[in-house]
Amino acid sequence: MLLLLKEMKSDKITKIGDVEIKGDVILAPMAGISDSPYRQICREAGSAFAYTEFVSTDGISHGSKKSIDLFRFSNAERPIFFQIFGNKLEVITEAAKIIEELGPDVIDMNMGCSVAKVAHKGSGAGMLRDPVNTGKIIESVRKAVNVPVTAKIRIGWDHQNLNYREMVHVLQESGIQAISVHGRTKSMAYTGLADWKIISEIKSFAKVPIFGNGDILSYKQAKERIAESGVDAVLIGRAAIGNPWIFSGIDKENVSFSEIKNMIVYHLNLMLEFYGSPFGLLLFRKHVSKYLKGYFGVSELRNKLVTSDNVDAFLGYLSEFNPDVTRSESQEFANEMLSCETYLN
Ligand SMILES: Cc1cc2nc3c(=O)[nH]c(=O)nc-3n(C[C@H](O)[C@H](O)[C@H](O)COP(=O)(O)O)c2cc1C
Repeated sequence: MLLLLKEMKSDKITKIGDVEIKGDVILAPMAGISDSPYRQICREAGSAFAYTEFVSTDGISHGSKKSIDLFRFSNAERPIFFQIFGNKLEVITEAAKIIEELGPDVIDMNMGCSVAKVAHKGSGAGMLRDPVNTGKIIESVRKAVNVPVTAKIRIGWDHQNLNYREMVHVLQESGIQAISVHGRTKSMAYTGLADWKIISEIKSFAKVPIFGNGDILSYKQAKERIAESGVDAVLIGRAAIGNPWIFSGIDKENVSFSEIKNMIVYHLNLMLEFYGSPFGLLLFRKHVSKYLKGYFGVSELRNKLVTSDNVDAFLGYLSEFNPDVTRSESQEFANEMLSCETYLN
C-alpha cells in the first residue's frame, strides 16, 4: 500500500461493454514503461485503468514467451487493457484468442505507433492508411473474443490525409467499443503539438467513449482538457514517467525529496519482485532518472544510480544522499523525444 499517494475519488463511470471505468485520468500505454510494476503504482495513485505495453501479434501467435510475458499482470491493476499490434487479419485474430485466455478485461488494437518498422509495414499507425481492411480486422477480432475491443489511433497518416472521420466511422461500424485518440499524425511522430480541436470534434460525433491524449502535463490540465473537449477520459504518457503523483492530483513540485526517495525504493522493490535481481534494477534505470528529473544537485547521485548493477549499492547511494536539492526552473517532464522506438530493438 502506498501511503504517499492519495487516490483521487472520481464519480465518473464510463462503460466499455460490461467493463466499468471509474475515473477519467489514465496512464497511457508506453512500451518499456507501462509494465506491471508501474501500472500497479499508477493504478494506486488514481489512474482509472491499466494499459499494457503494445505486444506484437506475430510474437503471440508464434508462442514467443517474451511476448506473452509482457501480459503478466496483478489483479490490482484491473481493469486491464491488453494492447496488441500487427497487420494480418488471421494473425491478429488468432493472437486475440490466445491472449483472451490470459484474462484481460479489454483488448486494444494499436493504430498509433509511428515507428517506421511498425507503421511502414501496415501495423500501428499504418492501419490508418487502409481503413477498410482495418475495419475487417476489428470485425474479425470482435467475433473471435468475448471481451470488449478498443483502438488507439492517431488523427491520420499526415496532414494531407487527416482521415480520422472515416476511421472513427469504420471502427464504429466494425464494432469497436471505445477509441483513444493521440492528437498527432503519424508523420508528426512526437513533434509539434497534439490537436485538441480535432479530439473535441471526434468526441462530438463519436458514438463510443473517446479518450483524448497528447501533451498533458498535469492533473489540472487533464481536467481542463476533459472539460473543454468533452472527452470521456484522458491518457497521460510522457509526463507520467517518474511522476505517478500526477494521477493523484499532486504536483511533483510539491512532493518532498524524501518522498521521491521513498517512491524510488517502493518502485524498485516491485521491479525486483517482478523481474528478479539484478534485471529489475537494470530496467529501473530509465525510471530513476525520471524520478530525479527537475532537480538541481542530483547529477552525481543520478550517475551512480543509473550505472549501479548492485541493489545494495544502489540503496546505499540513495540513503546516504543528503537532499540539499532545489527544483530546476525548467520542467521538461514531457518534451522529450522518447518513443516506443527505443524499446523495439
Ligand atoms: C516511451 C514511449 C513508449 C510508447 N509506447 C506506446 C505503446 O506501446 N502503445 C501505444 O499505444 N502508445 C505508445 N506510446 C504513445 C503514448 O501512449 C502516447 O500516445 C504519447 O506519448 C502521447 O501522449 P503524451 O503527450 O501524454 O506523452 C509510447 C510513448 C512513449 C513516450
